[in-house]
Amino acid sequence: MASTRDASGGLSFGAVRLEQVIREAGTPCYAYDLDGIGASARALEGAFEAAPHLICYAVKANSAGAVVRAIAARGCGADVVSGAELLVALACGIEPDRIVYSGVAKRDEEIDRAIGCGSRGIGAVQIESIEEIARLQARARAAGRKVRVGVRVNPSVDQAEVTHAHIATGHDEAKFGVPLEDALDAARVAAASPNLELVGMGVHAGSQFTSLEPYLDAARVLFGLVSEMRATGAFPSLAFVDSGGGFGVDYGDGMSLSPADFVRAVRAEQRARGLGDLPLYVEPGRSLVAAHGVLLARVIQAKVTTAARWLMIDAGMNDLVRPALYQARHRIVPLDRDAADVESVAWRVVGPVCESSDDFGEHLLPREPPDAVAILDAGAYGYTMASEYNGRQLPVEAFVRGGRVVARTERGSVEAWALERSNAGS
Ligand code: LLP
Repeated sequence: MASTRDASGGLSFGAVRLEQVIREAGTPCYAYDLDGIGASARALEGAFEAAPHLICYAVKANSAGAVVRAIAARGCGADVVSGAELLVALACGIEPDRIVYSGVAKRDEEIDRAIGCGSRGIGAVQIESIEEIARLQARARAAGRKVRVGVRVNPSVDQAEVTHAHIATGHDEAKFGVPLEDALDAARVAAASPNLELVGMGVHAGSQFTSLEPYLDAARVLFGLVSEMRATGAFPSLAFVDSGGGFGVDYGDGMSLSPADFVRAVRAEQRARGLGDLPLYVEPGRSLVAAHGVLLARVIQAKVTTAARWLMIDAGMNDLVRPALYQARHRIVPLDRDAADVESVAWRVVGPVCESSDDFGEHLLPREPPDAVAILDAGAYGYTMASEYNGRQLPVEAFVRGGRVVARTERGSVEAWALERSNAGS
């Protein structure tokens, strides 16, 4: 956790008092510690030592420019899943050939954008079906370009119990990736397509892995396939293997692995398969940013019934949907004092949205409710999944560096929202 308490009990984050952030930015507000984010990217870079590699930051986790730039400044590239994310990565100064683009259903205009940038298009468009290869070949030919492609393979691993079903992607029932049994064919078709150059083979088996084995299972499948491909001598342009993202973080349950542990383990597997010379690409999102973001909310009121002690806050599932969508638990702490220092009771923390699933779970918080709370580890898949449901404005974002708020976004106005909606269809 990147937060600390001072002697008076006030919570700081990135060396800024969070009460100060609320005074400046209001609530609900995401605050990100850019120094912490840069340090996590640097630590992961260090894990590769001298091995050839590229860290492709998964922009979907947190696409705020200051965040992407902090990561890019440490030498990382990007993993994008839409034309819009591609534009963000480029605008943040990431070179096109350091960007990979995955997605099961890329629109023509998104493909065109990917193949049209720079002098050679992006680093790799990662195809996720045999059908996509023909589309890509046709778009590349129309553009008069030779496009670098990767094949994202579905490693077909058993993922029951490994991570939440909604974020497991490497099993037979998932829509993602080329089925393992078709992967070699897909590679052959791509390699034989005149306007495509097959440069990479990859997997992404899912997210929030809290042990090494499921991640390594998928990587082993990939490395087995790539060894087989190399043995044929038919894929001379192969320039990287991509073991995907998915490094888990500690949401309070005591996960002790670091992203570097995943990298070291997967590198060992890669070397063991005789593939140590191929650059290893990884696509971490959550693990670079989750711990370095908090969602700040004010307490609106308490409601004590015989059934529960509800603590109603002004952030809801529209601001942070992970608890509602994945039954995820984020720690919640008061801003002005440590719950351990005062009489604390179990509060059921809920937001204002008209859904029963707008519920952040039960948390031990002071009996006398605090004015404001911080929802921890909210730097990944927080703002990027936020919505305006119930006529709520998107949360603002405050960026902390060197012990102060260096930038923040503006909150949309209630009036502007109401005007736009009331004019819809007129
Ligand atoms: N690469 C690909 C192709 C992906 O689909 C993803 C995430 C990543 C990389 C990054 O995975 P990470 O390192 O962040 O685990 N909204 C969910 C997570 C969905 C992940 C989707 N794909 C959540 O809040 O838990």
